[in-house]
Formats: sequence, structure tokens, C-alpha cells
Amino acid sequence: MLDTESWSRHDIEGLLDKAKAYLPVQGVRLPTADTLMQRRIVLAFFEASTRTRMSFELAAQRLGASTFLFQPTGSSVEKGETLAATLRTLQAMGFDAIVLRHAVDGVHRTMAAALDIPIINAGEGVSAHPTQALLDASTLRERLGTLDGKNICIVGDVRHSRVARSNVDVLTKLGANIGLCAPDIFAPDDDVFASCRRFTSIDDAIKWADCISLLRIQRERITGGVMPSIDAYRMHYAMTLTRALAAPDVVIIHPGPVNLGIEIDTEVLDLPQTLIDRQVTHGVAVRMAVLERALL
Ligand code: CP
Repeated sequence: MLDTESWSRHDIEGLLDKAKAYLPVQGVRLPTADTLMQRRIVLAFFEASTRTRMSFELAAQRLGASTFLFQPTGSSVEKGETLAATLRTLQAMGFDAIVLRHAVDGVHRTMAAALDIPIINAGEGVSAHPTQALLDASTLRERLGTLDGKNICIVGDVRHSRVARSNVDVLTKLGANIGLCAPDIFAPDDDVFASCRRFTSIDDAIKWADCISLLRIQRERITGGVMPSIDAYRMHYAMTLTRALAAPDVVIIHPGPVNLGIEIDTEVLDLPQTLIDRQVTHGVAVRMAVLERALL
């Protein structure tokens, strides 16, 4: 699971069907299995994370695997050990797979070529966040049914977003039409996502869309340009309560973490059309399916 680009629609649908079996059913304990008993999985996160790290950990444990947290701070990385040397060391200890989040684009492919155990991409630079795209697709299929012909508009800081890249790939393969809505500073170059429809205002995007997928401003990845003021951003790109209430059939998703009062109003979180908590639930199920695919 390095990226989704080599995955066909058939591959993606097969994984989403598998994940569906791991979704909690009302009134029933969370589904578990013992398919990964005796497997030992490292979680190596070189960037901050709540959702992805915790849900991979829970997913692994629900399949019977043991998880081990590798913390870069306090490790020999601080003494100059390279990432490849560190991961080879973990492999030599006998770990069965490494779930890796890292800021460097291309690093997962490089590490996978250097190691014999599976490397699972938990977020890479601005390039890819494959399990986020899969869990978004899983959530949207549950609410909207087939994604064939559905209009999904990604709104916000598309330029710096690995989630946007993976989502355009996965959702397009599943038959959706993708729109992008961002101010110039956050819009990707014209030749990137050439097939996507462009919007300059969330109001126009909402009129077109079955789903608005919001992104936060990725301040940690912005190096130049003039940031819009929060007021200017909200005027054209935020999912305010007024906008959400005026379009109750438009589904709202967000990969998190959310910046309340900037790209989304607090009150929008509790609306029936908002699926942010449901995305998190799907994340565990999808990651269970991903871990099984990598290790069985
Ligand atoms: N969506 C997402 O990747 O969240 P975390 O950074 O909390 O893992």
C-alpha cells in the first residue's frame, strides 16, 4: 500500500467490500478477527497524527496483531541514523510490517524497495494518503450508493494536500466527477488534475456537488505566497452553517483535523449531512482490510 495509482477500480472495490464487513453494526460489538495473530506491526510516524495512527493501531489489534510504536524523538534517528537504516533494523528484529508516515515525497517507494516486509503508506508529503482516500470512498458509498456520476468538490488547500491527490485518483476511478475549489495560493497548477472542474467560490461548488470535501489550510507545508485573511477565506471557501443549512442534500466530509471557524463552522459538525465522525469509523474498517491485504 504505497499509493493507489497502481490500483484498478476492481482492486479498490474489492478492498472496500472487504472493509464493509468490519464496520460496526448497531448494537453489536466491534467486529474482530484473528487473521493477524502472531503478527507484529510497527507504527512509525515522523509527522503528527491522531486519526491515522490510532486507527491503524486499533485495526491491527482488532485482527489479533501486536502493535509497536516507534517514536522518532528519542530514537537513534536523533544521532543521525538514516530512515532506511532504522527501518532495516526494525525488519531485522522480526517485525512483519511497518506503517509509515513521513514528510518526504517518494519515501515509501524507496523504503519498500530497500526492505522485504510490507510498508504501508500512512501519509507521504504532499503526494499520497491512500487510506484516507479509501475511507472517504467507503463513507461516501455508504451514504450515496454508487459514486458513478456523482459530483464531488474538494474545497480548500488543494495545492498542499496529499488527501486531495489520493482522493482525485480513487474517486475518479470509482466513477465520480471531481471539482476543485481554491484561492490561487491553494490551487494546484493547471496541468495537475487537468480533468477536474475548477470553481472559484464554494457557493458555485455547492450548486454543482453531491458532496463537498473540505480541507484545512496546511500551514506546515506553505512556503511562499500571501495567505488570505480568515474573513476573506470564509467568505469564499468555508462551509458556514448558513451554507450547509441551505443545501441539506449536499454531503460534507473532511479528513480532519478540522480548524473550526475557518473552513467549517462548529455547528456544521452535528448536521445529519456531515459525515466526519463516520469517516473516522470507516477508517478503522478500511485499515483492517488494508492490513489483511498486506499481510495475508
Ligand atoms: N486525516 C488524517 O490523516 O488525520 P491525522 O493527521 O490525525 O492522522
